[in-house]
Amino acid sequence: MIFVTTLAASELEKVAIRYANEGVQADRAGARGRAIACYQQAIETLNTLINLYPNYELNKVYIQRIAMYQARIKALKGEVVEDTAPQLPSDGQSQAKAKYEELVVKEKPNVKWEEVIGLEDAKRAIKESIVYPTKRPDLFPLGWPRGILMFGPPGCGKTLLAAATASEIDATFINIDAAAIMSRWLGEAEKNVARVFAQARSTKGPVIIFIDEVDALFGTHSNEVGGEVRVRNQFLQEMDGLSEKGRSSLVYVIAATNKPWQLDAPFIRRFQKRILVPLPDFEARVKTFALYTRNLRLASDVSLEELARMTEWYSPSDIRDVCQSAQLIVVRELFESGAALKPDSKPREITMEDFKRVIQTRKPSVSPDMFKSYVIWYENFKAL
Ligand SMILES: Nc1ncnc2c1ncn2[C@@H]1O[C@H](COP(=O)(O)OP(=O)(O)O)[C@@H](O)[C@H]1O
Ligand SMILES: [Mg+2]
Repeated sequence: MIFVTTLAASELEKVAIRYANEGVQADRAGARGRAIACYQQAIETLNTLINLYPNYELNKVYIQRIAMYQARIKALKGEVVEDTAPQLPSDGQSQAKAKYEELVVKEKPNVKWEEVIGLEDAKRAIKESIVYPTKRPDLFPLGWPRGILMFGPPGCGKTLLAAATASEIDATFINIDAAAIMSRWLGEAEKNVARVFAQARSTKGPVIIFIDEVDALFGTHSNEVGGEVRVRNQFLQEMDGLSEKGRSSLVYVIAATNKPWQLDAPFIRRFQKRILVPLPDFEARVKTFALYTRNLRLASDVSLEELARMTEWYSPSDIRDVCQSAQLIVVRELFESGAALKPDSKPREITMEDFKRVIQTRKPSVSPDMFKSYVIWYENFKAL
Protein backbone atom coordinates (compact mmCIF):
# COMPACT_ATOMS: atom_id res chain seq x y z
CA MET A 1 0.00 0.00 0.00
CA ILE A 2 1.28 3.40 -0.92
CA PHE A 3 0.49 4.91 2.47
CA VAL A 4 2.68 2.35 4.24
CA THR A 5 5.35 2.82 1.61
CA THR A 6 5.45 6.52 2.27
CA LEU A 7 5.85 6.03 6.01
CA ALA A 8 8.66 3.50 5.74
CA ALA A 9 10.33 5.58 3.06
CA SER A 10 10.27 8.67 5.20
CA GLU A 11 11.89 6.72 8.06
CA LEU A 12 14.71 5.67 5.78
CA GLU A 13 14.94 9.19 4.49
CA LYS A 14 15.44 10.44 8.03
CA VAL A 15 18.24 7.97 8.62
CA ALA A 16 19.95 9.02 5.40
CA ILE A 17 19.63 12.68 6.32
CA ARG A 18 21.13 12.03 9.74
CA TYR A 19 24.16 10.38 8.19
CA ALA A 20 24.51 13.12 5.62
CA ASN A 21 24.28 15.82 8.28
CA GLU A 22 26.99 14.14 10.31
CA GLY A 23 29.05 13.85 7.18
CA VAL A 24 28.77 17.55 6.41
CA GLN A 25 29.66 18.47 9.97
CA ALA A 26 32.68 16.21 9.97
CA ASP A 27 33.58 17.54 6.54
CA ARG A 28 33.49 21.13 7.75
CA ALA A 29 35.51 20.23 10.82
CA GLY A 30 38.13 18.67 8.58
CA ALA A 31 37.54 15.12 9.89
CA ARG A 32 38.00 13.44 6.53
CA GLY A 33 37.77 9.81 7.50
CA ARG A 34 34.63 10.36 9.52
CA ALA A 35 33.04 12.43 6.75
CA ILE A 36 33.73 9.74 4.18
CA ALA A 37 32.24 7.05 6.42
CA CYS A 38 29.08 9.10 7.00
CA TYR A 39 28.60 9.96 3.35
CA GLN A 40 29.04 6.27 2.57
CA GLN A 41 26.30 5.34 5.06
CA ALA A 42 24.03 8.00 3.61
CA ILE A 43 24.60 6.58 0.12
CA GLU A 44 23.82 3.05 1.25
CA THR A 45 20.64 4.11 3.00
CA LEU A 46 19.44 6.04 -0.04
CA ASN A 47 20.24 3.07 -2.25
CA THR A 48 18.16 0.83 -0.01
CA LEU A 49 15.33 3.31 -0.19
CA ILE A 50 15.45 3.45 -3.97
CA ASN A 51 15.62 -0.32 -4.33
CA LEU A 52 12.73 -0.89 -1.95
CA TYR A 53 10.49 1.74 -3.50
CA PRO A 54 11.52 2.10 -7.13
CA ASN A 55 8.51 4.30 -7.89
CA TYR A 56 8.85 6.69 -4.99
CA GLU A 57 8.36 10.25 -6.13
CA LEU A 58 11.56 11.63 -4.64
CA ASN A 59 13.94 9.04 -6.06
CA LYS A 60 15.19 11.51 -8.63
CA VAL A 61 16.30 13.77 -5.81
CA TYR A 62 17.94 10.86 -3.99
CA ILE A 63 19.86 9.76 -7.04
CA GLN A 64 21.27 13.25 -7.41
CA ARG A 65 22.17 13.24 -3.75
CA ILE A 66 23.98 9.93 -4.07
CA ALA A 67 26.01 11.25 -6.97
CA MET A 68 26.83 14.31 -4.91
CA TYR A 69 28.03 12.33 -1.89
CA GLN A 70 30.03 10.03 -4.12
CA ALA A 71 31.70 12.97 -5.76
CA ARG A 72 32.48 14.47 -2.38
CA ILE A 73 33.95 11.20 -1.15
CA LYS A 74 36.22 11.10 -4.19
CA ALA A 75 37.27 14.66 -3.60
CA LEU A 76 38.01 13.94 0.05
CA LYS A 77 40.08 10.94 -0.93
CA GLY A 78 42.09 13.21 -3.14
CA GLU A 79 40.93 11.71 -6.40
CA VAL A 80 40.44 14.34 -9.01
CA VAL A 81 36.86 14.89 -10.01
CA GLU A 82 35.38 17.68 -11.93
CA ASP A 83 32.28 19.31 -10.63
CA THR A 84 32.83 18.92 -6.92
CA ALA A 85 34.67 22.08 -6.07
CA PRO A 86 32.64 25.27 -6.03
CA GLN A 87 32.73 26.39 -9.60
CA LEU A 88 33.86 29.66 -11.02
CA PRO A 89 32.38 30.11 -14.46
CA SER A 90 35.37 30.26 -16.76
CA ASP A 91 33.82 31.46 -19.97
CA GLY A 92 31.11 33.36 -18.14
CA GLN A 93 28.14 33.71 -20.43
CA SER A 94 27.94 30.38 -22.20
CA GLN A 95 28.52 28.30 -19.14
CA ALA A 96 25.92 30.12 -17.11
CA LYS A 97 23.51 29.68 -19.93
CA ALA A 98 24.09 25.97 -20.29
CA LYS A 99 23.47 25.52 -16.61
CA TYR A 100 20.30 27.51 -16.68
CA GLU A 101 18.99 25.26 -19.42
CA GLU A 102 19.71 22.24 -17.24
CA LEU A 103 17.83 23.70 -14.33
CA VAL A 104 14.49 24.41 -15.79
CA VAL A 105 12.07 23.13 -18.30
CA LYS A 106 10.58 26.05 -20.17
CA GLU A 107 7.44 25.03 -21.91
CA LYS A 108 3.98 26.06 -22.87
CA PRO A 109 1.93 23.36 -21.21
CA ASN A 110 -0.94 21.91 -23.11
CA VAL A 111 -3.40 21.21 -20.32
CA LYS A 112 -6.79 22.84 -20.57
CA TRP A 113 -8.59 24.31 -17.60
CA GLU A 114 -11.56 22.00 -18.29
CA GLU A 115 -9.38 18.90 -18.11
CA VAL A 116 -8.83 19.56 -14.43
CA ILE A 117 -11.86 18.05 -12.78
CA GLY A 118 -13.46 19.56 -9.69
CA LEU A 119 -11.22 21.75 -7.51
CA GLU A 120 -13.60 24.67 -7.94
CA ASP A 121 -12.26 26.56 -4.91
CA ALA A 122 -8.69 26.13 -6.01
CA LYS A 123 -9.55 27.27 -9.53
CA ARG A 124 -11.34 30.35 -8.24
CA ALA A 125 -8.39 31.26 -6.01
CA ILE A 126 -6.05 30.97 -8.96
CA LYS A 127 -8.30 33.02 -11.19
CA GLU A 128 -8.47 35.79 -8.62
CA SER A 129 -4.78 35.91 -7.88
CA ILE A 130 -3.29 35.17 -11.29
CA VAL A 131 -5.68 35.28 -14.19
CA TYR A 132 -7.54 38.54 -13.39
CA PRO A 133 -4.44 40.57 -12.40
CA THR A 134 -2.67 39.40 -15.56
CA LYS A 135 -5.53 40.45 -17.79
CA ARG A 136 -6.37 43.76 -16.05
CA PRO A 137 -3.54 44.87 -13.77
CA ASP A 138 -5.13 48.33 -13.61
CA LEU A 139 -7.94 46.90 -11.49
CA PHE A 140 -5.48 45.91 -8.77
CA PRO A 141 -3.95 49.19 -7.54
CA LEU A 142 -3.01 47.57 -4.24
CA GLY A 143 -1.11 44.76 -5.92
CA TRP A 144 -1.78 41.07 -5.80
CA PRO A 145 -0.14 37.96 -4.38
CA ARG A 146 2.88 36.63 -6.27
CA GLY A 147 3.31 33.45 -4.30
CA ILE A 148 0.80 30.62 -4.32
CA LEU A 149 1.26 27.46 -2.35
CA MET A 150 -0.80 24.46 -3.34
CA PHE A 151 -0.88 21.67 -0.82
CA GLY A 152 -2.83 18.48 -0.35
CA PRO A 153 -2.67 14.72 -0.70
CA PRO A 154 -0.74 13.22 -3.62
CA GLY A 155 -2.47 12.61 -6.93
CA CYS A 156 -5.23 15.22 -6.64
CA GLY A 157 -4.14 17.60 -9.35
CA LYS A 158 -1.65 20.13 -7.98
CA THR A 159 0.80 19.64 -10.80
CA LEU A 160 -2.01 19.46 -13.31
CA LEU A 161 -3.60 22.68 -12.07
CA ALA A 162 -0.32 24.56 -12.23
CA ALA A 163 0.12 23.52 -15.84
CA ALA A 164 -3.47 24.43 -16.68
CA THR A 165 -3.01 27.86 -15.13
CA ALA A 166 0.00 28.52 -17.29
CA SER A 167 -1.82 27.59 -20.46
CA GLU A 168 -4.87 29.61 -19.43
CA ILE A 169 -2.94 32.88 -19.25
CA ASP A 170 -0.55 31.84 -22.00
CA ALA A 171 2.36 32.16 -19.61
CA THR A 172 5.87 30.92 -19.91
CA PHE A 173 6.08 28.00 -17.57
CA ILE A 174 9.41 27.56 -15.81
CA ASN A 175 9.41 24.20 -14.13
CA ILE A 176 12.15 24.18 -11.53
CA ASP A 177 13.79 20.88 -10.94
CA ALA A 178 14.56 20.82 -7.22
CA ALA A 179 17.13 18.10 -7.65
CA ALA A 180 18.96 20.02 -10.37
CA ILE A 181 19.02 23.21 -8.34
CA MET A 182 20.67 21.43 -5.46
CA SER A 183 22.91 19.21 -7.48
CA ARG A 184 25.93 21.46 -7.40
CA TRP A 185 28.19 21.06 -4.47
CA LEU A 186 28.46 23.86 -1.91
CA GLY A 187 28.11 27.38 -3.07
CA GLU A 188 26.52 27.19 -6.48
CA ALA A 189 22.91 26.49 -5.77
CA GLU A 190 21.93 29.97 -4.63
CA LYS A 191 23.32 31.39 -7.85
CA ASN A 192 21.07 29.00 -9.71
CA VAL A 193 18.08 30.41 -7.88
CA ALA A 194 19.11 33.98 -8.68
CA ARG A 195 19.60 33.00 -12.31
CA VAL A 196 16.11 31.53 -12.60
CA PHE A 197 14.48 34.66 -11.20
CA ALA A 198 16.59 36.97 -13.33
CA GLN A 199 15.59 35.04 -16.39
CA ALA A 200 11.92 35.15 -15.37
CA ARG A 201 12.03 38.93 -14.89
CA SER A 202 13.53 39.48 -18.30
CA THR A 203 11.00 37.27 -20.08
CA LYS A 204 8.21 39.09 -21.85
CA GLY A 205 4.64 38.42 -20.74
CA PRO A 206 3.49 36.47 -17.69
CA VAL A 207 5.83 33.89 -16.23
CA ILE A 208 4.99 31.12 -13.81
CA ILE A 209 7.87 29.66 -11.88
CA PHE A 210 6.66 26.30 -10.70
CA ILE A 211 8.40 24.38 -7.94
CA ASP A 212 6.95 20.94 -7.52
CA GLU A 213 7.62 18.89 -4.36
CA VAL A 214 8.93 22.06 -2.79
CA ASP A 215 9.43 20.31 0.55
CA ALA A 216 12.37 18.46 -0.99
CA LEU A 217 14.09 21.79 -1.55
CA PHE A 218 12.85 23.94 1.30
CA GLY A 219 11.75 21.48 3.97
CA THR A 220 12.92 22.28 7.49
CA HIS A 221 14.82 19.00 7.50
CA SER A 222 16.57 19.45 4.21
CA ASN A 223 19.59 21.54 5.21
CA GLU A 224 22.05 18.69 5.28
CA VAL A 225 24.29 20.07 2.63
CA GLY A 226 26.05 23.29 3.45
CA GLY A 227 24.59 25.41 0.69
CA GLU A 228 20.95 24.86 1.44
CA VAL A 229 20.52 27.59 3.99
CA ARG A 230 21.91 30.06 1.49
CA VAL A 231 19.62 28.73 -1.21
CA ARG A 232 16.64 29.22 0.99
CA ASN A 233 17.65 32.76 1.89
CA GLN A 234 18.30 33.64 -1.71
CA PHE A 235 14.88 32.33 -2.58
CA LEU A 236 13.12 34.31 0.17
CA GLN A 237 14.93 37.42 -0.99
CA GLU A 238 13.83 36.87 -4.58
CA MET A 239 10.24 36.37 -3.42
CA ASP A 240 10.34 39.66 -1.53
CA GLY A 241 11.77 41.32 -4.62
CA LEU A 242 8.79 40.20 -6.66
CA SER A 243 6.22 41.97 -4.55
CA GLU A 244 8.29 45.11 -3.91
CA LYS A 245 9.83 46.24 -7.16
CA GLY A 246 7.76 44.22 -9.49
CA ARG A 247 4.50 46.10 -9.23
CA SER A 248 3.93 45.67 -12.91
CA SER A 249 5.90 42.49 -13.41
CA LEU A 250 3.94 39.35 -14.06
CA VAL A 251 6.19 36.80 -12.42
CA TYR A 252 4.39 34.31 -10.19
CA VAL A 253 5.75 31.54 -8.08
CA ILE A 254 3.58 28.49 -7.62
CA ALA A 255 4.85 25.88 -5.23
CA ALA A 256 3.26 22.51 -4.61
CA THR A 257 3.74 20.05 -1.78
CA ASN A 258 2.26 16.90 -0.30
CA LYS A 259 3.98 17.67 2.99
CA PRO A 260 3.22 21.28 3.95
CA TRP A 261 4.15 20.59 7.59
CA GLN A 262 7.75 20.24 6.51
CA LEU A 263 7.92 23.86 5.38
CA ASP A 264 9.05 26.52 7.80
CA ALA A 265 7.24 29.73 8.70
CA PRO A 266 9.38 32.28 6.78
CA PHE A 267 8.87 30.28 3.64
CA ILE A 268 5.13 29.87 4.12
CA ARG A 269 4.73 33.57 4.84
CA ARG A 270 6.01 34.45 1.34
CA PHE A 271 3.07 32.58 -0.10
CA GLN A 272 0.13 34.80 0.71
CA LYS A 273 -2.22 32.51 -1.10
CA ARG A 274 -2.43 28.96 0.23
CA ILE A 275 -4.70 26.59 -1.55
CA LEU A 276 -5.83 23.21 -0.35
CA VAL A 277 -6.20 20.83 -3.27
CA PRO A 278 -8.56 18.26 -1.78
CA LEU A 279 -9.71 14.77 -2.61
CA PRO A 280 -12.57 14.66 -5.12
CA ASP A 281 -16.13 14.61 -3.82
CA PHE A 282 -18.77 12.26 -5.24
CA GLU A 283 -19.58 14.42 -8.22
CA ALA A 284 -15.94 14.94 -9.09
CA ARG A 285 -15.31 11.20 -8.88
CA VAL A 286 -18.14 10.54 -11.35
CA LYS A 287 -16.55 13.02 -13.75
CA THR A 288 -13.12 11.53 -13.21
CA PHE A 289 -14.40 8.06 -14.07
CA ALA A 290 -16.09 9.52 -17.12
CA LEU A 291 -12.82 11.13 -18.21
CA TYR A 292 -10.67 8.04 -17.81
CA THR A 293 -13.15 5.60 -19.33
CA ARG A 294 -14.00 7.73 -22.32
CA ASN A 295 -11.75 5.68 -24.61
CA LEU A 296 -12.62 2.31 -23.06
CA ARG A 297 -15.41 -0.06 -24.08
CA LEU A 298 -17.80 -0.38 -21.17
CA ALA A 299 -20.54 -2.98 -20.73
CA SER A 300 -24.03 -1.58 -20.24
CA ASP A 301 -24.06 -2.61 -16.56
CA VAL A 302 -21.27 -0.17 -15.72
CA SER A 303 -22.55 2.74 -13.65
CA LEU A 304 -20.17 5.63 -13.10
CA GLU A 305 -22.21 6.76 -10.08
CA GLU A 306 -21.87 3.32 -8.54
CA LEU A 307 -18.12 3.40 -9.16
CA ALA A 308 -17.90 6.82 -7.54
CA ARG A 309 -19.75 5.52 -4.49
CA MET A 310 -17.27 2.66 -4.15
CA THR A 311 -14.23 4.94 -4.30
CA GLU A 312 -14.54 7.37 -1.44
CA TRP A 313 -11.00 8.53 -0.42
CA TYR A 314 -9.58 7.62 -3.83
CA SER A 315 -7.61 10.39 -5.51
CA PRO A 316 -8.09 11.13 -9.23
CA SER A 317 -4.75 9.49 -9.77
CA ASP A 318 -5.99 6.34 -7.97
CA ILE A 319 -9.11 6.42 -10.14
CA ARG A 320 -7.01 6.62 -13.27
CA ASP A 321 -5.09 3.56 -12.03
CA VAL A 322 -8.36 1.71 -11.42
CA CYS A 323 -9.50 2.37 -14.99
CA GLN A 324 -6.12 1.35 -16.35
CA SER A 325 -6.18 -1.91 -14.40
CA ALA A 326 -9.73 -2.71 -15.54
CA GLN A 327 -8.66 -2.24 -19.13
CA LEU A 328 -5.67 -4.47 -18.49
CA ILE A 329 -7.99 -7.31 -17.40
CA VAL A 330 -9.70 -7.44 -20.78
CA VAL A 331 -6.51 -6.89 -22.74
CA ARG A 332 -4.76 -9.64 -20.81
CA GLU A 333 -7.62 -12.01 -21.64
CA LEU A 334 -7.34 -11.12 -25.30
CA PHE A 335 -3.62 -11.88 -25.32
CA GLU A 336 -3.94 -15.08 -23.32
CA SER A 337 -6.60 -16.39 -25.68
CA GLY A 338 -4.24 -15.78 -28.57
CA ALA A 339 -6.81 -13.60 -30.31
CA ALA A 340 -4.75 -10.44 -29.89
CA LEU A 341 -2.57 -11.50 -32.78
CA LYS A 342 -5.41 -11.06 -35.22
CA PRO A 343 -5.23 -7.46 -36.37
CA ASP A 344 -8.88 -6.53 -35.92
CA SER A 345 -9.57 -8.37 -32.69
CA LYS A 346 -11.04 -6.34 -29.85
CA PRO A 347 -11.09 -7.03 -26.14
CA ARG A 348 -14.47 -7.73 -24.59
CA GLU A 349 -16.31 -4.91 -22.85
CA ILE A 350 -15.31 -4.03 -19.30
CA THR A 351 -18.01 -5.01 -16.82
CA MET A 352 -18.93 -3.76 -13.38
CA GLU A 353 -17.51 -7.02 -12.03
CA ASP A 354 -14.08 -6.18 -13.49
CA PHE A 355 -14.13 -2.80 -11.79
CA LYS A 356 -15.17 -4.36 -8.49
CA ARG A 357 -12.28 -6.80 -8.64
CA VAL A 358 -9.82 -3.99 -9.23
CA ILE A 359 -11.25 -1.73 -6.54
CA GLN A 360 -11.10 -4.51 -3.97
CA THR A 361 -7.38 -4.93 -4.44
CA ARG A 362 -6.46 -1.33 -5.16
CA LYS A 363 -6.93 0.60 -1.94
CA PRO A 364 -6.88 4.42 -1.81
CA SER A 365 -3.47 5.99 -1.32
CA VAL A 366 -4.83 8.60 1.09
CA SER A 367 -6.35 7.71 4.44
CA PRO A 368 -8.93 9.79 6.33
CA ASP A 369 -6.35 10.56 9.03
CA MET A 370 -3.84 11.68 6.48
CA PHE A 371 -6.41 13.97 4.91
CA LYS A 372 -7.31 15.43 8.28
CA SER A 373 -3.70 16.44 8.84
CA TYR A 374 -3.92 18.75 5.80
CA VAL A 375 -7.00 20.46 7.16
CA ILE A 376 -5.40 20.89 10.57
CA TRP A 377 -2.25 22.31 9.04
CA TYR A 378 -4.35 24.76 7.02
CA GLU A 379 -6.18 25.97 10.13
CA ASN A 380 -2.89 26.52 11.95
CA PHE A 381 -1.33 28.57 9.20
CA LYS A 382 -4.26 30.65 8.10
CA ALA A 383 -3.32 33.60 10.27
CA LEU A 384 0.37 33.55 9.56
N1 LIG B 1 -8.40 17.03 -10.60
C1 LIG B 1 -7.99 16.15 -11.54
N2 LIG B 1 -8.66 16.02 -12.70
C2 LIG B 1 -8.24 15.14 -13.63
N3 LIG B 1 -7.18 14.33 -13.50
C3 LIG B 1 -6.48 14.40 -12.36
C4 LIG B 1 -6.83 15.31 -11.33
N4 LIG B 1 -5.96 15.17 -10.31
C5 LIG B 1 -5.08 14.23 -10.69
N5 LIG B 1 -5.39 13.75 -11.91
C6 LIG B 1 -4.65 12.68 -12.64
O1 LIG B 1 -3.61 12.20 -11.79
C7 LIG B 1 -2.34 12.55 -12.32
C8 LIG B 1 -1.43 13.01 -11.20
O2 LIG B 1 -1.91 14.20 -10.67
P1 LIG B 1 -0.95 15.37 -10.17
O3 LIG B 1 -1.44 16.65 -10.71
O4 LIG B 1 0.48 15.03 -10.44
O5 LIG B 1 -1.23 15.28 -8.61
P2 LIG B 1 -0.42 16.00 -7.44
O6 LIG B 1 0.48 16.99 -8.06
O7 LIG B 1 -1.49 16.62 -6.61
O8 LIG B 1 0.29 14.91 -6.72
C9 LIG B 1 -2.61 13.64 -13.34
O9 LIG B 1 -1.65 13.66 -14.34
C10 LIG B 1 -3.98 13.27 -13.87
O10 LIG B 1 -3.86 12.22 -14.80
MG1 LIG C 1 2.48 16.48 -8.36
